[in-house]
Amino acid sequence: RDPVIGVISGSARSGSFNTTLAKAAGKMAEAKGATTMLINLGFDYALPLYSQDLEVDFPAAAVELKAKLASCDAWIIAGPEYNGFATPLLVNAITWSSRGDPPGEMYATFKGKTAAVIATSPGGLGGMRALNSYKELLMNLGTTCLPLSVAVGGAMKAFKEDGSLADSKMAGMLDGLITQLVHVARSEANREVACEI
Ligand code: FNR
Repeated sequence: RDPVIGVISGSARSGSFNTTLAKAAGKMAEAKGATTMLINLGFDYALPLYSQDLEVDFPAAAVELKAKLASCDAWIIAGPEYNGFATPLLVNAITWSSRGDPPGEMYATFKGKTAAVIATSPGGLGGMRALNSYKELLMNLGTTCLPLSVAVGGAMKAFKEDGSLADSKMAGMLDGLITQLVHVARSEANREVACEI
């Protein structure tokens, strides 16, 4: 079957550059035969700020998000850089999704998945400093992050009207990364025996 790739932005800002970038990467994945699913953390999942106390009445939104993430073979994550780090929106969503598994199945949502982590920012470095914070968090949960990333600087001028990348070299880099992700996701989607990690 064709792989399902979750498209996730770490920003809920209206007009978010990272949401635009995530969608542009999603379109590239679709062009390579993947089915994509936009996972809108800010609008579709009213997650409370994580506190362990709230786990006694595990939020329905967190259960829903976990199921949605689990239904993907891989994820594209476009994460803004806040003070050189991952955004609270994405960290909160990942924290909730790392909880609530039955005993012995810790991090079931994340284990064996693959993610491409990308970023964009109005600044020159394109949010490059935050990439490792996203990767570190995901890898701690058992997700394999593709070693290469794409960080798009100058976000104010980086996108065309239709949301695609204006710079063909940058578009080519992103396309290469997404080609790799779709390749891995396709082999995961068609693996006969689940991999126990
Ligand atoms: C920022 N911004 C920012 N940019 C950057 O390149 N490096 C940084 O460390 C930070 N730090 C930072 C902290 C906070 C709290 C905010 C609100 C913003 C600017 C940021 O890249 C810009 O607002 C982007 O537009 C955010 O991404 P979205 O919402 O457009 O996807």
